[in-house]
Amino acid sequence: MKTILHQKYIAEAVDIKNIKDFNGITSWQSPSNIAIVKYWGKHDNQLPNNPSISLTLSNAHTETSIQYTAKNNSGISLDFYFDGKSEPDFGKKIERFLIENLTFFPFLNQLHLRVESKNTFPHSSGIASSASSMSALVMCLLDIESTIGTGKRSKDEYLQKASFFSRLASGSAARSVFPYASLWGESESITGSSNEFAIPLENAIHPIFKTYHDSILIISAKTKSVSSRSGHSLMENNPYAKARYSEAEKNTVSLFHAMKKGDLESFIQITETEALQLHALMMTSNPSFILLQPNTLTAIQIVRDFRENTKIPLCFTLDAGPNLHLLYPDAYRNQVEQFIQENLLQFCQSNRWISDRVGNGPSQLV
Ligand code: PMV
Repeated sequence: MKTILHQKYIAEAVDIKNIKDFNGITSWQSPSNIAIVKYWGKHDNQLPNNPSISLTLSNAHTETSIQYTAKNNSGISLDFYFDGKSEPDFGKKIERFLIENLTFFPFLNQLHLRVESKNTFPHSSGIASSASSMSALVMCLLDIESTIGTGKRSKDEYLQKASFFSRLASGSAARSVFPYASLWGESESITGSSNEFAIPLENAIHPIFKTYHDSILIISAKTKSVSSRSGHSLMENNPYAKARYSEAEKNTVSLFHAMKKGDLESFIQITETEALQLHALMMTSNPSFILLQPNTLTAIQIVRDFRENTKIPLCFTLDAGPNLHLLYPDAYRNQVEQFIQENLLQFCQSNRWISDRVGNGPSQLV
């Protein structure tokens, strides 16, 4: 189904008029994000079955550059390098995405692309690299498009377009283009929310959330055993799917209001419920899968005891893996880091943890 936005983006599509000597380079960094209300289950072309809200990270980001040179023959032509090494398999994934979206970016027919990418965070560390890498790629594409010359558009329209195409590349990437926090997916009571793109929450949240840290305990660095693609599709026959989608809708609205007010108690309650529901869905799908490890559960218990004893508003969330993301305001940084060092590192693989915090969203490097 072609929506109004599809039609708008088709109308904006540009060719390069003066192809001779149309060469250049663009480079962007874009962050990963951590979902608080989780997106799990999708339909059609990357449309979510429920709304989700995430915090945009900062240190965990991808840097992508595209060097483009004019060519005569039509069709997508690209070389992809990751960490300086040619990676044809990942290149194929990008190529597929570009072919699927040629109607929107017809100028890609006229260019050869050399795409180079690197992550600032280790592979398989429980940080979503598809969110950062795909949003970085899309920021580069839109920048090339701007160089060719599209009509005037506001920053908001630009980011909405970036979110729309990031979503098509990888669902959760839609949320990475906005600073601090964003919401993706239609929610009846949140004006402006959409399944097609995420919306910024920067101006809707209490300042305390702009100081939040995400300390990631690497319980295991092993690659997850289930891809998010098959995880999403298992929701189709999950007996709890209907209940989950209405819970997620409810949690989205409650979280939205809690973040507006700076209500940390509700934030903590929703964050932990959502993390555990995500994993409960995995455990109740057919086939079922368990990504949590004994050390994840031990660490969760220790975090809850610490919160109970100290009243420090520390809580955890989980992505599709065993690693624990610890969320807390900057005011408690010293106490929480000391607590991690003394009580939790023993449950991490090789005592590893990653220090991150919420950040500003994508930025242009070149
Ligand atoms: O964007 P995907 O298809 O990799 O799915 C992401 C799913 C979770 O990370 C588990 C949750 C989320 O909302 O980010």
